[in-house]
Amino acid sequence: MVGASFAYSLMQCGVANELILVDADEARAEGEAMDLNHGMPFVSPMRIRAGGYELLAGCDLTVITAGANQRPGQTRLELLQRNAGVIRDIVPRIVAANPRGVILVATNPVDILTEIAAEVAGLPPGHVFGSGTTLDSARFRFLIGDYLDVNPRSVHAYIIGEHGDSAVPVWSVANIGGIRVSDLATGEGKRIDGAAMDRIFDQTRNAAYEIIQRKKSTYYAIGLALRTVVEAVLRDEQTVLTVCSPMKGQFGVEGISLSLPTIVGHGGAETVLQPPLDPREIGLFRESASILLDQYASVRA
Ligand code: 2OP
Repeated sequence: MVGASFAYSLMQCGVANELILVDADEARAEGEAMDLNHGMPFVSPMRIRAGGYELLAGCDLTVITAGANQRPGQTRLELLQRNAGVIRDIVPRIVAANPRGVILVATNPVDILTEIAAEVAGLPPGHVFGSGTTLDSARFRFLIGDYLDVNPRSVHAYIIGEHGDSAVPVWSVANIGGIRVSDLATGEGKRIDGAAMDRIFDQTRNAAYEIIQRKKSTYYAIGLALRTVVEAVLRDEQTVLTVCSPMKGQFGVEGISLSLPTIVGHGGAETVLQPPLDPREIGLFRESASILLDQYASVRA
């Protein structure tokens, strides 16, 4: 569903001239390609096909959405054992077919799987990266904007660290029009005080659990998030997104992939930024890293 939602969103933005759908279930990929192709008279022309890995030759970018997803109440980390196997199987096949393209991982737990994919692929730094907390930052911006009645596009706020239970909200630099979110009072006198901050972050962190409880899986917002990351790569936009990529000493973290605001362009995760976090946020970011490093150790090849 994540792959199909992403494909549906991608075909509406006109940025790609070709899309290949690869799935272990070949009939499913064919059915999705047929369904999408029948919408072609309503969008900019492009080619959509289903097929095997060999068709990936020459693609600018491959998005991996394959793998098991969470059942109600299950954490993302509980998928690790199973989906690490999926990534170790898929990535060598992608690289064999297409040694030069960028790889974007969306399968959960995305941070550890991005680290594994980067290790297995052996591509230049930044060329293997993950959707990370792109979706969490979007949820955070939506909820802040909804509370203060401001368009979420005008809310500049980031979730960093794990795409999961140890995600970190960066309240210290969250701003609207250059005003710290916590200092802003809207026309109706609404303010984000400590209690509202806790509530907004809880809703951000628990969003996937709440949705999975109700409709079994999440796919529309992640489909749009993936499209945004893919557009940034294909157009070499240099857009700042909280994707995850292998850390190289940022805030003292290395050996694992985590999300920080990152400049995304043709080379994937090109420059990882280090915003001026407060000491508490740095501590939480490092805690998130240590949780993931422990988990990663359990599936090291
Ligand atoms: C999400 O956050 C489940 O990771 C997926 O929607």
